[in-house]
Amino acid sequence: NNMFADKVGEEHGYTREDVDALQDKVTAGHKNLLEAKEAGELDWMKLPETHKEIAQEIKEFAEENRDKYDNFVVLGIGGSALGNIAVQTALNDPYYNLKEEARDGCPRLFVPDNVDPTRLKSLLDELDLERTIFNVISKSGTTAEPMSQFLTAREKVAEELGADSVSDHFVAVTSKDSGKLIEIAEREGIKTYYVPDTVGGRFSVLSPVGLVSSAFVGIDIEELLAGAGYMADLCDTDDLWSNPAYLNSVLQYLADQDGKPMSVMMPYAHVLKDVADWYRQLWAESLGKEFDKEGNVVNVGPTPIKALGATDQHSQAQLYMEGPYDKVVIFLEVENFRGNLEIGTAYEDIDGISYLCGHSFDELITTEKKATELALTKNNRLNCTVKFPEVNAFTLGQFIFLFELQTAMSGELYNINAFNQPGVELGKNYAYGVLGRDGYADMKEEFDSRPEK
Ligand code: PA5
Repeated sequence: NNMFADKVGEEHGYTREDVDALQDKVTAGHKNLLEAKEAGELDWMKLPETHKEIAQEIKEFAEENRDKYDNFVVLGIGGSALGNIAVQTALNDPYYNLKEEARDGCPRLFVPDNVDPTRLKSLLDELDLERTIFNVISKSGTTAEPMSQFLTAREKVAEELGADSVSDHFVAVTSKDSGKLIEIAEREGIKTYYVPDTVGGRFSVLSPVGLVSSAFVGIDIEELLAGAGYMADLCDTDDLWSNPAYLNSVLQYLADQDGKPMSVMMPYAHVLKDVADWYRQLWAESLGKEFDKEGNVVNVGPTPIKALGATDQHSQAQLYMEGPYDKVVIFLEVENFRGNLEIGTAYEDIDGISYLCGHSFDELITTEKKATELALTKNNRLNCTVKFPEVNAFTLGQFIFLFELQTAMSGELYNINAFNQPGVELGKNYAYGVLGRDGYADMKEEFDSRPEK
């Protein structure tokens, strides 16, 4: 961590006393989280334990069925898609969809995570439906984006393969007791896995939301859960100096209170790019809130930003280095890359090029990370590093749990509810009104009388 004043000079950074001053708040927050967990309100905290058997069942289902399909398509959005993308791109070959040998008999994975017609049409046109399985994921079972995707995919399957085939080409993940997807899945005889009610979308990647697609694309989901469980044990203390989730939460909180609300996650490993995207949602949707727990208007929330090293050194780093003192950079560093490559050795006689010869790409990217870290630190720019010894299912599981818990503790520090998202409802309701959903006529009226631009 390069966020302490004794390392970065007096101007920016925090003393150990600043951190210690938040211990009481952390202790109270820890107690609240444990009580809520015991009361069954935060079942995402229990997934590493409660979902061991379910993971095994999902794994068996995937192993038995995956050779029937060349394509696995996730129909979901936000918390029902970003974790799926992050796990797959972190753990599988970067060109998994293009390389048959990398897939080792598993289907290609597509996660459109949007309703852009150009993209969706292009995907549906490309798929051989006979060899495709769609995983429709919606905890609420009513979200416009996955449900519209599902309606279209279902129609195409029924038209091309016959209505009797629907159950062979869909698997659903939804809430057991609410929403419309469960009703549809039952009517169609679609295999269904459940999201526990108190596992919110952005905290659900270790539930069937993320596990089904991961298992189909050959990821060791039991290791993923084992890694998360390992981190849960490591973080089973309210002592913030011993609990990495709480310590990072405190440091980010101090920074935000000190006028540094921009939280940049910058992996120096391309495979972790989508993990930063997952973090961006987790942090934004959980912590950006108008009201505190007592109902006072607070309008809090740091702004998460995803960046990628070394790519964004040529795009963002100038701003991070010399722009406003409003950012914290969380670097993700990988000690051992899967697969390495030596830099070519031609032109050893040419100055300005020859220094690259004899080095490897892991040396290059990690040196660039360390150089950027030092440059930021020298410029009094707050930063910290999360190190992956290597990126595998176990370490990724740890990382996921670490940041979920960090987010939950941050909610406690801000004294807000980190597990709801009332702010996204209004826009959705206008859209429902315009599209003609029952019960939303007043929203349409308000929409139609909106001021002219
Ligand atoms: O984190 C969240 O709660 C949201 O991002 C949801 O995951 C997203 O809106 C999709 O919701 P659902 O799974 O109910 O369709």
